[in-house]
Amino acid sequence: TLAAPVSGDLPQYVTLSRTGDRMPLVGLGTWESAPGEVGGAVAAALDAGCTHIDCAAAYRNEKEIGGALKASGIPRKSLFLTSKLWNDRRRPQDVRDALDTTLSRLGTDYLDLYLVHWPVVWAKNSVMKPDGGASLRECWQTLEALVDEGKVRNIGVSNMKQSELEELFSYARIRPSVNQIELHPRLPQSALVEYCQQRQVALTAYSPLGRGDVKKAGLLASPTVTAIAQAHKVSTASVLLRWNLERNVVVIPKSVNPTRIASNVREPWSFALTAEERTALAALE
Ligand code: A2P
Repeated sequence: TLAAPVSGDLPQYVTLSRTGDRMPLVGLGTWESAPGEVGGAVAAALDAGCTHIDCAAAYRNEKEIGGALKASGIPRKSLFLTSKLWNDRRRPQDVRDALDTTLSRLGTDYLDLYLVHWPVVWAKNSVMKPDGGASLRECWQTLEALVDEGKVRNIGVSNMKQSELEELFSYARIRPSVNQIELHPRLPQSALVEYCQQRQVALTAYSPLGRGDVKKAGLLASPTVTAIAQAHKVSTASVLLRWNLERNVVVIPKSVNPTRIASNVREPWSFALTAEERTALAALE
């Protein structure tokens, strides 16, 4: 569980449809966390009480993450591990092989959540080359079989818009329990969030601190966010994270800095946004 949350007004988890598994509302993002750095980031997150780690085969750092998880000694059942299937692994055997590779790199025999990274179908080992012989539908059926076999507890998607979800719903025997998309006050995607939440598809926000050069010109330095942060004596990152938490959206801020990781994991629970502050943040869209 998360260490010593200060604010008791928000749940610590979202409960996933079908399994009832609890997905911690704050996880560690690992995209672009460099080799040699990501292991330390995972250790810092675990130390801070964050047991949810968001990974992907495409980030090419799962082996080091697995090493840090093992070194922590934390029992597997206390962790929430997500990974993602890359776009050129869509045929049944390739889906199976990709999952086995991810499991072995992470040093586990199951994932809590496995996501289709993007709703596209590329030929194996290609970038953006179409594969006429493969389909998302067949890929999803393979993921459903992997749920049946106990290798993944929950399956979901990433980067899906409403029309793509509608198509998936038309054939899914096991419906997606999560859609991971870019969400922050500049890109609130409120209609898509509502569509998903009404259908028991939980949302995970990637890039919750904004995109681009976040430290200099982005949301983290926005005057609106800075004023709110000063009012609560918290970081601007915590304001942005809290904004998603208050919509019941899971956040996975990436950091490799132990101080920022601990702050991202704990500080968003220590205050609440006022109605006026939410209105000011809404104006950033
Ligand atoms: P660092 O890893 O040095 O902490 P993205 O969301 O696109 O993955 O990028 C997150 C960016 O935000 C990284 O550059 C990360 O840098 C930075 N970051 C993470 N947490 C904080 C924070 N609390 N304050 C300022 N910058 C942060």
